[in-house]
Amino acid sequence: MSSTVDNSKRRFLTTAASVVVGGAGAAAVAVPFVTSMLPSAKAQAAGAPIDVDISKLEIGQQMTVEWRGKPVWIVRRSTATIESLASLDEQLRDPGSSVASQQPEYCVNETRSIRDELIVLVGVCTHLGCSPTYRPELAPEDLGSDWKGGFFCPCHGSKFDLAGRVYKGVPAPTNLVVPPYYFQGDNRIVVGEDAQGAA
Ligand code: FES
Repeated sequence: MSSTVDNSKRRFLTTAASVVVGGAGAAAVAVPFVTSMLPSAKAQAAGAPIDVDISKLEIGQQMTVEWRGKPVWIVRRSTATIESLASLDEQLRDPGSSVASQQPEYCVNETRSIRDELIVLVGVCTHLGCSPTYRPELAPEDLGSDWKGGFFCPCHGSKFDLAGRVYKGVPAPTNLVVPPYYFQGDNRIVVGEDAQGAA
């Protein structure tokens, strides 16, 4: 089974996978759909990798699956988003992903990803473990005119960009974790191990 995350706090419901649709000025909408080829609940609880179908994930959308009891987000980023990442470096605590524990080596790059357009993140705030909210809209009133999309933690106000990099001046000490993963063809991601089989 995969999961839906209630973004308000730590509640993490074990139901179906979900996609969150984001857009400028639009409220996020959860659209349930079914993923296939997931491992048994028992295997998943033990930490088995999960196989995720991303064929329905459109630009700007976030989907959430469960791995090792935690939410894992996959977001398909637009070209504009990818291009905007470098402009944020000065506002970020660790723009170059220097903390080795926060991502596999193959994601130490400008986009923190294997493919520029797809970011994969463990959806757990690095402060005290709440699940941040996907906030893809540009310059919303509550996040300010500089906001270029990202993740906002409602518990104590930590902010992360669309590569999961933490902003300066917030309680979270490090970037969001990128789990090990690899692609199996164009539309499948295996989350929980890398191409060499390392978890
Ligand atoms: S748990 Fe996210 S800011 Fe504290």
